Amino acid sequence: MNARLAHRVERLLPSPTLAVSSKAKAMTAAGHPVISLAAGEPDLPTPAVAVEAAMRALLDGATRYTAVKGIPELLSAISEDSSQARGHRHDETTEVVVTVGAKQALFNLFQVLLDDGDEVLLPQPSWVSYAPQVELAGGVAVAVEGVAEKGFFPTVEALERVVTSKTRALVLTSPSNPTGLVATSEQVQVASRWAVEHGLTIVSDEIYRRIRFSDAPAIISPLSVVGSQHVVVIDGVSKSHCMTGWRIGWALGPAPIISAMTKIQSHQTSNPATVSQYAALAALKHADSHVEELVQSLEARRNLFVGRLGAIKGVTALRPQGAFYVFVDVRDLLEETEDDISLCQALLEQQSLATVPGSAFGAPGWLRMSIAVSAEDLERAADRLETFVNERT
Ligand SMILES: Cc1ncc(COP(=O)(O)O)c(C=O)c1O
Repeated sequence: MNARLAHRVERLLPSPTLAVSSKAKAMTAAGHPVISLAAGEPDLPTPAVAVEAAMRALLDGATRYTAVKGIPELLSAISEDSSQARGHRHDETTEVVVTVGAKQALFNLFQVLLDDGDEVLLPQPSWVSYAPQVELAGGVAVAVEGVAEKGFFPTVEALERVVTSKTRALVLTSPSNPTGLVATSEQVQVASRWAVEHGLTIVSDEIYRRIRFSDAPAIISPLSVVGSQHVVVIDGVSKSHCMTGWRIGWALGPAPIISAMTKIQSHQTSNPATVSQYAALAALKHADSHVEELVQSLEARRNLFVGRLGAIKGVTALRPQGAFYVFVDVRDLLEETEDDISLCQALLEQQSLATVPGSAFGAPGWLRMSIAVSAEDLERAADRLETFVNERT
Protein backbone atom coordinates (compact mmCIF):
# COMPACT_ATOMS: atom_id res chain seq x y z
CA MET A 1 0.00 0.00 0.00
CA ASN A 2 1.24 3.45 -0.91
CA ALA A 3 0.10 5.36 2.18
CA ARG A 4 -0.10 9.11 1.82
CA LEU A 5 1.23 10.73 4.96
CA ALA A 6 0.52 14.23 6.21
CA HIS A 7 3.11 16.88 5.37
CA ARG A 8 3.82 17.55 9.02
CA VAL A 9 5.04 13.98 9.48
CA GLU A 10 7.02 13.95 6.26
CA ARG A 11 8.83 17.09 7.37
CA LEU A 12 10.01 15.36 10.55
CA LEU A 13 13.58 14.16 10.24
CA PRO A 14 14.43 10.74 11.59
CA SER A 15 16.48 10.92 14.76
CA PRO A 16 20.22 10.81 14.10
CA THR A 17 20.51 8.61 17.17
CA LEU A 18 18.46 5.85 15.58
CA ALA A 19 21.14 4.55 13.27
CA VAL A 20 23.54 4.09 16.17
CA SER A 21 21.07 2.61 18.64
CA SER A 22 19.63 0.10 16.18
CA LYS A 23 23.13 -0.94 15.19
CA ALA A 24 24.09 -1.31 18.87
CA LYS A 25 21.07 -3.55 19.43
CA ALA A 26 21.88 -5.68 16.38
CA MET A 27 25.51 -6.04 17.52
CA THR A 28 24.45 -7.05 21.02
CA ALA A 29 22.04 -9.61 19.56
CA ALA A 30 24.90 -10.97 17.46
CA GLY A 31 26.94 -11.54 20.61
CA HIS A 32 29.22 -8.46 20.64
CA PRO A 33 30.01 -7.19 24.15
CA VAL A 34 28.54 -3.72 23.52
CA ILE A 35 28.82 -1.11 26.27
CA SER A 36 26.11 1.47 25.75
CA LEU A 37 26.63 5.00 26.99
CA ALA A 38 23.65 6.09 24.92
CA ALA A 39 20.85 5.77 27.46
CA GLY A 40 18.87 8.73 28.73
CA GLU A 41 17.85 7.22 32.04
CA PRO A 42 19.37 6.57 35.46
CA ASP A 43 20.37 3.01 36.33
CA LEU A 44 19.09 2.78 39.93
CA PRO A 45 15.72 1.08 40.54
CA THR A 46 12.58 3.08 41.30
CA PRO A 47 12.42 3.82 45.06
CA ALA A 48 10.74 0.92 46.88
CA VAL A 49 8.40 3.36 48.59
CA ALA A 50 6.96 4.33 45.18
CA VAL A 51 6.61 0.75 44.00
CA GLU A 52 4.87 -0.21 47.27
CA ALA A 53 2.51 2.76 47.02
CA ALA A 54 1.63 1.70 43.48
CA MET A 55 0.88 -1.88 44.58
CA ARG A 56 -1.26 -0.64 47.48
CA ALA A 57 -3.10 1.77 45.20
CA LEU A 58 -3.90 -1.01 42.74
CA LEU A 59 -5.23 -3.26 45.49
CA ASP A 60 -7.31 -0.35 46.75
CA GLY A 61 -8.89 0.01 43.30
CA ALA A 62 -6.90 2.86 41.73
CA THR A 63 -7.62 1.43 38.32
CA ARG A 64 -10.00 3.99 36.85
CA TYR A 65 -9.80 7.40 35.22
CA THR A 66 -8.82 10.34 37.40
CA ALA A 67 -9.32 14.03 36.69
CA VAL A 68 -7.51 14.82 33.42
CA LYS A 69 -4.94 16.99 35.18
CA GLY A 70 -4.21 14.46 37.93
CA ILE A 71 -5.29 13.46 41.44
CA PRO A 72 -5.61 16.36 43.92
CA GLU A 73 -3.05 14.85 46.34
CA LEU A 74 -0.37 14.80 43.62
CA LEU A 75 -1.22 18.31 42.37
CA SER A 76 -0.90 19.53 45.93
CA ALA A 77 2.42 17.72 46.51
CA ILE A 78 3.83 19.16 43.27
CA SER A 79 2.75 22.65 44.23
CA GLU A 80 4.33 22.27 47.69
CA ASP A 81 7.55 20.78 46.31
CA SER A 82 7.86 23.57 43.76
CA SER A 83 7.20 26.32 46.28
CA GLN A 84 10.03 24.98 48.45
CA ALA A 85 12.42 24.77 45.51
CA ARG A 86 11.48 27.95 43.67
CA GLY A 87 9.95 30.23 46.28
CA HIS A 88 6.60 30.62 44.51
CA ARG A 89 3.51 28.57 45.22
CA HIS A 90 1.40 27.77 42.16
CA ASP A 91 -2.30 27.30 42.76
CA GLU A 92 -2.76 23.55 42.73
CA THR A 93 -6.26 23.76 41.27
CA THR A 94 -5.53 26.06 38.32
CA GLU A 95 -1.77 26.30 37.74
CA VAL A 96 -0.52 22.69 37.69
CA VAL A 97 -1.14 19.82 35.28
CA VAL A 98 0.25 16.28 35.58
CA THR A 99 1.26 14.77 32.24
CA VAL A 100 2.51 11.55 30.64
CA GLY A 101 6.16 12.34 31.31
CA ALA A 102 7.73 15.78 30.91
CA LYS A 103 7.59 15.06 27.20
CA GLN A 104 3.81 15.38 27.03
CA ALA A 105 3.96 18.58 29.07
CA LEU A 106 6.37 20.09 26.54
CA PHE A 107 4.42 18.77 23.56
CA ASN A 108 1.13 20.23 24.76
CA LEU A 109 2.76 23.47 25.85
CA PHE A 110 4.02 24.10 22.31
CA GLN A 111 0.55 23.20 21.00
CA VAL A 112 -1.06 25.90 23.12
CA LEU A 113 1.61 28.58 22.66
CA LEU A 114 2.19 28.47 18.91
CA ASP A 115 0.29 29.46 15.82
CA ASP A 116 1.63 28.52 12.39
CA GLY A 117 4.96 30.21 11.78
CA ASP A 118 5.56 31.28 15.39
CA GLU A 119 9.15 30.87 16.42
CA VAL A 120 10.74 29.24 19.46
CA LEU A 121 14.33 29.93 20.43
CA LEU A 122 16.33 26.81 21.24
CA PRO A 123 19.79 27.42 22.70
CA GLN A 124 22.25 24.93 21.22
CA PRO A 125 22.97 22.22 21.96
CA SER A 126 19.49 21.22 23.05
CA TRP A 127 17.47 18.12 23.80
CA VAL A 128 16.46 16.17 20.68
CA SER A 129 12.68 16.48 20.97
CA TYR A 130 12.20 20.25 21.34
CA ALA A 131 12.55 21.07 17.63
CA PRO A 132 10.26 18.28 16.33
CA GLN A 133 7.67 19.15 18.99
CA VAL A 134 7.76 22.82 17.97
CA GLU A 135 7.40 21.85 14.31
CA LEU A 136 4.50 19.48 15.01
CA ALA A 137 2.75 22.46 16.60
CA GLY A 138 3.20 24.43 13.37
CA GLY A 139 6.03 26.49 14.82
CA VAL A 140 9.57 27.13 13.68
CA ALA A 141 12.50 25.98 15.82
CA VAL A 142 15.20 28.64 15.78
CA ALA A 143 18.68 27.66 16.91
CA VAL A 144 20.48 30.05 19.25
CA GLU A 145 24.21 29.70 18.95
CA GLY A 146 25.92 28.28 22.03
CA VAL A 147 29.56 28.83 22.81
CA ALA A 148 31.37 26.03 24.64
CA GLU A 149 33.64 28.45 26.52
CA LYS A 150 30.57 30.26 27.88
CA GLY A 151 29.03 27.05 29.17
CA PHE A 152 26.75 26.92 26.10
CA PHE A 153 24.17 29.09 27.87
CA PRO A 154 22.72 31.67 25.47
CA THR A 155 24.15 35.19 25.61
CA VAL A 156 22.10 38.31 24.90
CA GLU A 157 24.13 38.89 21.72
CA ALA A 158 23.27 35.41 20.42
CA LEU A 159 19.60 35.86 21.34
CA GLU A 160 19.41 39.31 19.73
CA ARG A 161 20.76 37.88 16.48
CA VAL A 162 17.77 35.53 16.04
CA VAL A 163 14.78 37.18 17.74
CA THR A 164 12.04 38.40 15.36
CA SER A 165 8.49 39.73 15.63
CA LYS A 166 7.32 36.09 15.39
CA THR A 167 9.30 34.81 18.36
CA ARG A 168 6.99 33.48 21.07
CA ALA A 169 9.11 31.50 23.48
CA LEU A 170 12.61 30.78 24.75
CA VAL A 171 13.49 27.32 26.06
CA LEU A 172 16.00 27.16 28.93
CA THR A 173 17.27 23.83 30.27
CA SER A 174 19.47 23.68 33.36
CA PRO A 175 21.04 21.29 34.18
CA SER A 176 21.33 20.66 30.47
CA ASN A 177 20.88 17.58 28.39
CA PRO A 178 23.33 17.02 26.63
CA THR A 179 26.04 19.10 28.36
CA GLY A 180 25.25 18.47 32.04
CA LEU A 181 26.10 22.11 32.71
CA VAL A 182 24.23 24.24 35.26
CA ALA A 183 23.57 27.87 34.36
CA THR A 184 24.90 30.45 36.80
CA SER A 185 22.51 32.78 38.58
CA GLU A 186 23.74 35.65 36.43
CA GLN A 187 23.21 33.73 33.18
CA VAL A 188 19.65 32.85 34.18
CA GLN A 189 18.90 36.41 35.23
CA VAL A 190 20.23 37.96 32.04
CA ALA A 191 18.47 35.54 29.68
CA SER A 192 15.19 35.60 31.62
CA ARG A 193 15.00 39.38 31.80
CA TRP A 194 15.85 39.60 28.11
CA ALA A 195 13.00 37.18 27.28
CA VAL A 196 10.48 39.14 29.32
CA GLU A 197 11.56 42.44 27.74
CA HIS A 198 10.81 40.82 24.37
CA GLY A 199 7.40 39.56 25.49
CA LEU A 200 8.38 35.88 25.32
CA THR A 201 7.18 32.97 27.40
CA ILE A 202 10.07 31.15 29.06
CA VAL A 203 9.82 27.37 28.90
CA SER A 204 12.04 26.30 31.79
CA ASP A 205 12.78 22.60 31.50
CA GLU A 206 13.90 21.64 35.00
CA ILE A 207 13.62 17.88 34.66
CA TYR A 208 17.24 17.47 35.91
CA ARG A 209 16.93 20.02 38.75
CA ARG A 210 17.50 17.53 41.54
CA ILE A 211 20.51 15.91 39.89
CA ARG A 212 23.09 18.54 40.77
CA PHE A 213 26.63 17.79 41.89
CA SER A 214 28.29 19.32 44.95
CA ASP A 215 30.58 21.61 42.94
CA ALA A 216 27.77 23.09 40.79
CA PRO A 217 26.31 26.55 41.19
CA ALA A 218 22.94 26.74 42.94
CA ILE A 219 20.13 26.13 40.49
CA ILE A 220 18.04 29.24 39.91
CA SER A 221 14.70 28.93 38.16
CA PRO A 222 13.74 31.77 35.79
CA LEU A 223 10.51 31.70 37.83
CA SER A 224 12.29 33.21 40.81
CA VAL A 225 13.81 35.91 38.60
CA VAL A 226 10.89 37.15 36.50
CA GLY A 227 7.80 35.77 38.25
CA SER A 228 5.15 33.25 37.42
CA GLN A 229 3.34 35.12 34.65
CA HIS A 230 6.19 34.69 32.19
CA VAL A 231 7.40 31.18 32.91
CA VAL A 232 6.12 27.64 32.45
CA VAL A 233 8.19 25.20 34.50
CA ILE A 234 8.52 21.61 33.28
CA ASP A 235 9.48 18.97 35.85
CA GLY A 236 8.81 15.34 36.74
CA VAL A 237 10.00 12.20 38.48
CA SER A 238 11.47 10.36 35.48
CA LYS A 239 15.12 11.21 35.98
CA SER A 240 15.57 12.19 39.65
CA HIS A 241 13.40 9.39 41.03
CA CYS A 242 14.44 6.74 38.51
CA MET A 243 10.89 6.49 37.17
CA THR A 244 11.30 6.84 33.41
CA GLY A 245 8.90 3.99 32.71
CA TRP A 246 6.09 5.29 34.92
CA ARG A 247 5.61 8.32 32.65
CA ILE A 248 4.83 11.10 35.11
CA GLY A 249 5.83 14.70 34.50
CA TRP A 250 4.12 18.04 35.02
CA ALA A 251 3.91 21.69 34.10
CA LEU A 252 3.44 24.66 36.40
CA GLY A 253 2.43 27.96 34.85
CA PRO A 254 -0.16 30.70 34.35
CA ALA A 255 -3.75 29.42 34.68
CA PRO A 256 -4.83 30.13 31.05
CA ILE A 257 -1.87 28.12 29.68
CA ILE A 258 -2.41 25.22 32.10
CA SER A 259 -6.12 25.19 31.37
CA ALA A 260 -5.47 25.07 27.60
CA MET A 261 -2.93 22.26 28.05
CA THR A 262 -5.46 20.33 30.12
CA LYS A 263 -8.09 20.82 27.41
CA ILE A 264 -5.76 19.26 24.82
CA GLN A 265 -4.88 16.43 27.19
CA SER A 266 -8.59 15.71 27.70
CA HIS A 267 -8.85 14.82 24.01
CA GLN A 268 -5.51 13.10 23.82
CA THR A 269 -4.54 10.78 26.69
CA SER A 270 -6.95 11.87 29.46
CA ASN A 271 -5.16 11.48 32.81
CA PRO A 272 -1.68 9.97 33.06
CA ALA A 273 -1.88 6.34 34.32
CA THR A 274 -3.64 6.37 37.67
CA VAL A 275 -1.29 3.91 39.33
CA SER A 276 1.73 5.92 38.23
CA GLN A 277 0.30 9.03 39.85
CA TYR A 278 0.18 7.26 43.22
CA ALA A 279 3.74 6.06 42.75
CA ALA A 280 4.90 9.60 41.89
CA LEU A 281 3.09 10.99 44.94
CA ALA A 282 4.94 8.60 47.25
CA ALA A 283 8.23 9.32 45.49
CA LEU A 284 7.82 13.08 45.88
CA LYS A 285 6.94 12.79 49.55
CA HIS A 286 9.15 9.98 50.80
CA ALA A 287 12.11 9.37 48.49
CA ASP A 288 14.50 12.29 49.08
CA SER A 289 17.16 9.92 50.40
CA HIS A 290 16.93 7.84 47.21
CA VAL A 291 17.50 10.98 45.11
CA GLU A 292 20.51 11.86 47.27
CA GLU A 293 21.91 8.37 46.84
CA LEU A 294 21.53 8.65 43.07
CA VAL A 295 23.21 12.06 42.93
CA GLN A 296 26.14 10.95 45.10
CA SER A 297 26.72 7.84 43.06
CA LEU A 298 26.50 9.76 39.78
CA GLU A 299 28.94 12.36 41.10
CA ALA A 300 31.47 9.62 41.96
CA ARG A 301 31.04 8.17 38.47
CA ARG A 302 31.35 11.64 36.92
CA ASN A 303 34.66 12.11 38.74
CA LEU A 304 35.94 8.74 37.60
CA PHE A 305 34.94 9.10 33.95
CA VAL A 306 35.94 12.72 33.46
CA GLY A 307 39.28 11.88 35.10
CA ARG A 308 39.84 9.02 32.66
CA LEU A 309 38.82 11.09 29.62
CA GLY A 310 41.17 13.87 30.70
CA ALA A 311 44.10 11.52 30.05
CA ILE A 312 43.03 10.66 26.49
CA LYS A 313 44.66 12.84 23.85
CA GLY A 314 42.40 14.35 21.18
CA VAL A 315 39.19 14.43 23.24
CA THR A 316 38.06 17.19 25.59
CA ALA A 317 35.26 16.43 28.03
CA LEU A 318 33.08 19.06 29.65
CA ARG A 319 32.86 18.44 33.39
CA PRO A 320 29.12 18.05 34.00
CA GLN A 321 27.64 19.73 37.06
CA GLY A 322 24.39 17.79 36.99
CA ALA A 323 22.22 15.36 34.99
CA PHE A 324 24.14 12.24 33.90
CA TYR A 325 25.86 12.99 30.63
CA VAL A 326 29.41 13.85 29.71
CA PHE A 327 29.63 15.92 26.53
CA VAL A 328 32.87 15.27 24.72
CA ASP A 329 34.50 17.43 22.07
CA VAL A 330 35.93 15.09 19.43
CA ARG A 331 36.57 17.63 16.68
CA ASP A 332 40.31 17.00 16.81
CA LEU A 333 39.72 13.34 16.02
CA LEU A 334 37.69 13.90 12.88
CA GLU A 335 39.29 13.15 9.57
CA GLU A 336 38.44 15.27 6.55
CA THR A 337 35.36 13.45 5.31
CA GLU A 338 34.17 12.44 8.73
CA ASP A 339 31.51 13.85 11.01
CA ASP A 340 30.44 12.96 14.54
CA ILE A 341 27.83 10.50 13.23
CA SER A 342 30.37 8.47 11.26
CA LEU A 343 32.84 8.69 14.14
CA CYS A 344 30.15 7.39 16.46
CA GLN A 345 29.53 4.48 14.09
CA ALA A 346 33.22 3.69 13.83
CA LEU A 347 33.52 3.69 17.63
CA LEU A 348 30.64 1.25 17.80
CA GLU A 349 31.90 -1.02 15.02
CA GLN A 350 35.53 -1.09 16.12
CA GLN A 351 35.21 -0.96 19.91
CA SER A 352 31.59 -1.98 20.60
CA LEU A 353 31.07 1.34 22.40
CA ALA A 354 27.73 3.11 21.83
CA THR A 355 27.50 6.89 22.28
CA VAL A 356 25.20 9.58 20.87
CA PRO A 357 26.45 11.96 18.17
CA GLY A 358 26.36 15.66 19.09
CA SER A 359 24.54 16.44 15.82
CA ALA A 360 21.41 14.98 17.42
CA PHE A 361 21.50 17.98 19.76
CA GLY A 362 22.72 20.56 17.25
CA ALA A 363 26.40 20.25 18.21
CA PRO A 364 28.28 18.50 15.40
CA GLY A 365 31.75 17.39 16.41
CA TRP A 366 30.73 16.25 19.89
CA LEU A 367 29.60 12.96 21.45
CA ARG A 368 27.28 12.50 24.43
CA MET A 369 28.17 9.72 26.85
CA SER A 370 25.91 8.67 29.70
CA ILE A 371 27.52 8.01 33.07
CA ALA A 372 24.45 6.15 34.33
CA VAL A 373 26.19 2.78 33.94
CA SER A 374 28.38 0.86 36.39
CA ALA A 375 31.83 2.16 37.33
CA GLU A 376 33.28 -1.02 35.79
CA ASP A 377 31.58 -0.25 32.47
CA LEU A 378 32.81 3.35 32.62
CA GLU A 379 36.37 2.08 33.12
CA ARG A 380 35.97 -0.34 30.23
CA ALA A 381 34.38 2.38 28.07
CA ALA A 382 37.33 4.69 28.75
CA ASP A 383 39.76 1.87 27.86
CA ARG A 384 37.95 1.29 24.58
CA LEU A 385 37.85 4.97 23.71
CA GLU A 386 41.56 5.24 24.44
CA THR A 387 42.35 2.26 22.19
CA PHE A 388 40.14 3.74 19.46
CA VAL A 389 41.93 7.09 19.64
CA ASN A 390 45.39 5.50 19.76
CA GLU A 391 44.64 3.40 16.70
CA ARG A 392 43.74 6.52 14.73
CA THR A 393 46.71 8.65 15.67
C1 LIG B 1 15.81 17.82 28.78
C2 LIG B 1 14.72 16.81 28.81
N1 LIG B 1 13.46 17.24 28.91
C3 LIG B 1 12.44 16.36 28.96
C4 LIG B 1 12.64 15.01 28.88
C5 LIG B 1 11.44 14.08 28.91
O1 LIG B 1 11.29 13.47 30.14
P1 LIG B 1 10.18 12.35 30.40
O2 LIG B 1 10.85 11.03 30.32
O3 LIG B 1 9.63 12.67 31.77
O4 LIG B 1 9.14 12.51 29.35
C6 LIG B 1 13.94 14.52 28.76
C7 LIG B 1 14.18 13.06 28.64
O5 LIG B 1 15.15 12.61 28.08
C8 LIG B 1 15.01 15.44 28.74
O6 LIG B 1 16.28 15.02 28.66
